[in-house]
Amino acid sequence: MCGIFGVVGKQKNAAKVVIEGLKKLEYRGYDSWGIAVKNNGKLTRERHIGKIGGAETRLPDSNIGLGHTRWATHGGVTEGNAHPHLDCSGTLCLVHNGIVENFLSLKEKLASHKFESETDTEVALHLVEKLHQKADLFAALRQAYNQVTGMNAFIVFSSQKDELAAVKNGSPLIVGVGRDVNYISSDVWALMPHTNKVIFLEDGQMVKLSNDSVMMIDAKTGKTLKPKITTLNWKNQQSKLGKFHHYMEKEIYDQPKVLDNLALLSETTLKQIAGIIAKAPKTMFLGCGTASYAAKFGEYLLNFRGFEAEGIVGTEFAKNIPLLNKRQCFIMLSQSGETIDVVQAVDTVKQHGIKIIGLTNVLGSTLYRKSDLKVLLQAGQEVAVASTKAFTAKLAILIQLAYQLDGRLKVGKELINQASAAVTEIITGPVRKQIKFLSKILKDSADMFAVGRGLSYPIAMEASIKVKEVSYIHAEAYPGGELKHGPIALIDKGTPCIVLVPSDATYTDMISAAHEMKARGGLIIGIGTKNDAVFDHFLPVPDLKEATAIPMTTIVQLLAYDLAVDRGLNPDKPRNLAKSVTVK
Ligand code: AGP
Repeated sequence: MCGIFGVVGKQKNAAKVVIEGLKKLEYRGYDSWGIAVKNNGKLTRERHIGKIGGAETRLPDSNIGLGHTRWATHGGVTEGNAHPHLDCSGTLCLVHNGIVENFLSLKEKLASHKFESETDTEVALHLVEKLHQKADLFAALRQAYNQVTGMNAFIVFSSQKDELAAVKNGSPLIVGVGRDVNYISSDVWALMPHTNKVIFLEDGQMVKLSNDSVMMIDAKTGKTLKPKITTLNWKNQQSKLGKFHHYMEKEIYDQPKVLDNLALLSETTLKQIAGIIAKAPKTMFLGCGTASYAAKFGEYLLNFRGFEAEGIVGTEFAKNIPLLNKRQCFIMLSQSGETIDVVQAVDTVKQHGIKIIGLTNVLGSTLYRKSDLKVLLQAGQEVAVASTKAFTAKLAILIQLAYQLDGRLKVGKELINQASAAVTEIITGPVRKQIKFLSKILKDSADMFAVGRGLSYPIAMEASIKVKEVSYIHAEAYPGGELKHGPIALIDKGTPCIVLVPSDATYTDMISAAHEMKARGGLIIGIGTKNDAVFDHFLPVPDLKEATAIPMTTIVQLLAYDLAVDRGLNPDKPRNLAKSVTVK
């Protein structure tokens, strides 16, 4: 959450460089934004509520600048709470990503300071200001960092020096090494236009950047560290919108190519992971939000094959900790590779001597770096907050893993190729029109239900989160058999009910569930392999065994997208959300 971008160099274009960096980081939080630069020995800043969009900066020329896009945690969405914050003297400025958990107790010790905002961040700044009276800025930041609790990344600079000082724990920070210029950013994508030489900061590391030097120390011990420069051999694969209206639409349409790529996933890697699963007494899949539904899908795929497995919701991992044992297999799923509850679970699991298999879409992300066995989702950059192609990419890898366990990998790979063709058919064929038509009918709904049994239950959960997060319709997902144990009480005349009905062992029961909902007036939207009279609307998908989940998912993604557009919303930047959740 929150995007941070900073630069210190010879050139006087710091504000322009920073605002372009922030525009690439806005998916991390778009409640407000701000930039500060140093000019004629003074700090000058601008702060704004809302999205950056195509804004230009009005700040003066400067060779050092720091910017921030905010996802509010403490203090409302106001200009006063926007970062960067300035200290009492206006000579120090700070931006922050994370939560200062002990900000209230620290604030009590800073009573003489003048606070302008309601944020936890400003407390950290005034603490640095106080400590800076007896130490240089870098040392003051280190002392302050060792007094705050929580997962935080801080960057400060002063009107006195052309230096950026930064420290991180939990929230991602990456240094970009240039010629006579250095950058710092919350993710690598924003650095790519400038340099492919990067330093991934690990937890507890601090850096001091000037235009021609990078000095790194351990924040606890103060010991000097040798910065590890990684050269990323990616071309600047920054995702471009092209002919599409939104990134969510583009990323849904990217899926056939992504699936074709993943059908070529290395057999060695799949055999290696399947080998670990086969030997383990239990396999744990862990993720948050949409990734937790992929984790649940993995659990079902393995359980149906007689393997002990569990799909864990990352934010509820605590209950599993007492049960951790060395022989377990852990597969972590995270598009961004930075979700804090996943990253912390990785640390905990590693402390129990368990190897980590990491499925992520971001090379160099924390999950990627900390995983013992790394599998890239190869989905290309996912910009829209609502995850789409990264989800189906996870399904495609998990399905191949399951077929490798069956010793029928070839069949599994063929199913992924067929799923790619099925998605192409959906996005280019008559079903696309049907979905647009359906969205017009459903766009004023207040509630919606998505139901599925077995492997379709995680897909029903994915349907509900997509509809919720981009169209703000209150969609709920239930296992098809659970409705009559309570939720069916909510079904009224015209209540939209998405019913997932693939040709598997759940087919008959799901048709019965559809009848039960229809009997209460539900508007039944069937997504499946065979039409049925109970459906008011039917959206066909081919029977691709477990891979049927992929075209079914594409249909609910498109429906959510169309509903958002038809409700006049921006599907790429839904309210109250951000692409990567780096705070607890
Ligand atoms: C999905 O559309 C949401 N953006 C959200 O649930 C997301 O899946 C979750 O925050 C996990 O993100 P990750 O895959 O980057 O860890």
